[in-house]
Parts: sequence; C-alpha cells; structure tokens
Amino acid sequence: MSGFTPFAIERLLSRWENVVDYDLSESGVLPLTLRELLALATPDSELGDDLLDLRLAYAQTNGIEPLRRRIAALYPGATADNVLVTVGAAEANYLALSTVVEPGDEIVVMLPNYMQIWGIAQNRHMHAKPFHLVQEREWAADLAELEEVVGPDTKLIAVCNPNNPTGYILTEAEMDAVVRVAAKVGAWLLADEVYAGTELTTDRQTPTFYGRYDRVLAVNSLSKAYGLPGLRIGWAVVPAATAEDLWARHDYTTIATTMVGNHLADLALRPDVRARLIARARGLVRGGLPVLRRWLDDHSDLFSMVSPQASPIALAKYTLNLESTKLVERCIAEQSVLIVPGEHFGLEHHLRFRHGLPPDYLRAGLDRFGALLDDLTDELTGVVP
Ligand SMILES: Cc1ncc(COP(=O)(O)O)c(C=O)c1O
Repeated sequence: MSGFTPFAIERLLSRWENVVDYDLSESGVLPLTLRELLALATPDSELGDDLLDLRLAYAQTNGIEPLRRRIAALYPGATADNVLVTVGAAEANYLALSTVVEPGDEIVVMLPNYMQIWGIAQNRHMHAKPFHLVQEREWAADLAELEEVVGPDTKLIAVCNPNNPTGYILTEAEMDAVVRVAAKVGAWLLADEVYAGTELTTDRQTPTFYGRYDRVLAVNSLSKAYGLPGLRIGWAVVPAATAEDLWARHDYTTIATTMVGNHLADLALRPDVRARLIARARGLVRGGLPVLRRWLDDHSDLFSMVSPQASPIALAKYTLNLESTKLVERCIAEQSVLIVPGEHFGLEHHLRFRHGLPPDYLRAGLDRFGALLDDLTDELTGVVP
C-alpha cells in the first residue's frame, strides 16, 4: 500500500484484542452485554420483547429523529437538525475531514493523539502541523505553539478533549484560547469528545466545544464513556447546513447506521439510563486506575506516569532498553496480554494501558506483564535516558 498511511493502532487492536487472554489495549471501559443494558434501562420491562419485534428496515439515514433529538439535548442550542448519526466517532471524524477541508489544505492537530485525524490528513494530502500537550507540564497544552503554528492558511484545528492517550482535560482557559486562535483565522474546530463522562477526579462532565464558536464540529459516540462500542453509534453536532453536507457524504459511505443500533442508542441516552451508564464508567475508571497506579509504583524503577484526569486509559513512560512495539510483541507472544505501544502515538518508550476494567482482571493482566518484565530485566541491562 505504497503512499497510503494505514491506521496502525486499529490494525493492532483488531488483530489481537479478541485473541489474547488479557486485553489492556482497548480504550473504552468494559463494554456492557445487551442484557445488562436492557436491565439498566428498566429492570422488569418488556424491552427485550420490543426489540425482538423491531423491524430490521433501514433507519432514517441521518439517524432516527428521536435519537437525534436526544443527542441534540446534550448540546447547548442544538436541535435535531444539527445532528448526524454516524458509524462511531470514527465515521464522524472521517466525514468532517472529507467535507470542510480539501486536499492541499493546512490543518493543525493536537498531539499526542489517537492518530485517526493525522492519518486521514496524510492520505488526503493535507498539510498537518502539530501543536503539543507537554508531558513535563502534566500534559498542559502548549498555547504559544498553537498561536505560532496557526496562520491565515489554517482551515481546521483538531483537538481531542479529554485526550487520548494522555487523559488530559483542557482547562476553561485553554478551551477559550483554542477558540480564540481558531476564530482569529476562521478555522473549523473539530472537537473529538468521546472521553467526556469518564472523569476521574470530578463529577463535572468535560464541557463540549459546541456553542462556543460557530464553526465547531463536535464529535462523540457511545463507544467510550457509555461502554457500547459494538453498537457502532456515533455522531457529529455541527451547524445545520454542515449537517446536510456531512449527510450527503454519509449517503455514499455507509448509507445508515443500523436500526437496532439507533433504538438502543435512543435508550442509552434516555436521561436516567445515560446517568447510570456514566456512573458505571466512572466506577470502572475510578476502581481501575488505583490498581494500575499501585502496579506502576511497584515497578517505579522502570515506569513513571502523569495521572490521567479522565478516560479508561493511561500513558506510562518506561526506561527499559527496548522499543515499545518489540516490548508489546513479546508481551502478546509470551504472556497473551495486549498493551498499546507508544510508537503508535509518536511516543517511543511509552505504553498505553487500559484501566477501566474490573480490578481482578486488570491485576491479573498486569501480573502477567510483570512476569515478562522480570524475564526482560535479566536479558536487558541497559536503560534509556
Ligand atoms: C479519540 C477517539 N476518537 C474516535 C475513536 C473511534 O471511536 P468509535 O468507536 O466511536 O468509532 C476512538 C477510539 O478509540 C478514539 O479514541
């Protein structure tokens, strides 16, 4: 595939996540079963029967109206006309980059990042420039760099907030600065907000960029904070005319999301159910992170971590003299545990761990990884700076 940048992290996960004994790679909380979702909705209802009677027709291709209304209600000033339901946040991001920008355009992307936007930009021949979150400043945004790289040719700024892979949440001042910089040059602001709701130290949900500026594309899905990645339901909330433009592309890519997915998503976003799903996600991340932290403390000769503020994932730096991809390959082969190599985020000698899991499962996976490290430290004596 010369000239095409494959999406390396997705291919790694796809190859191994359903094969290994312990998956510490995926970036959502432990998914629910269908039974659990229905039970969470109304313990003694007939919802299961309603679902069995659902006619498996095409759903309205931009998403069924009640679902679009539920999604709109989560965004200040939005109506169903601002919403396009997509196949995950992945399709929403893809459509955004196929609609409001063109080959040859300049875009500015927050790094480190889940590299979807970066890879699409390469494949659509755009000029992608980074602005960074800074590890030495607990992943705070380098706003001076943002001001410097954004110029009159910048057509779009892409942020991920809370961030994958660091779990960093932009402060209000940083959000204001991002909006100000975008507005100065009239750039679109693509805000991937899939980790909102997985906050670790506050019950205040990370606010959306939607409504702070008229050129915002707010993207989200049921995959992370809601624990429902298998439904493949995401969305973009955008100006109404842009929703039409995205929808026109969506007709060509996937036509529609599934009827079952639309109805279950409508259920998941019912205010009482949504609150329970968010509470479940917060319970998992708040129970899991201390387990990971204890394990990292026990291996503090090799690992250090800036604690995430949100998300079921955490990025740790290590000093072992072995590249992250090689380390992960050995971990899969020798311990049947999957962790994400930092190389996929452009951060060598880092690993991304998933912690939004039941503590026993997480502990067992980490113990296996620890056994590999014991073997490796006998083999590798050198450390990297
Ligand atoms: C930041 C970010 N955006 C989008 C996605 C894609 O998610 P979805 O399952 O909603 O397509 C992911 C998945 O890991 C992600 O981390």
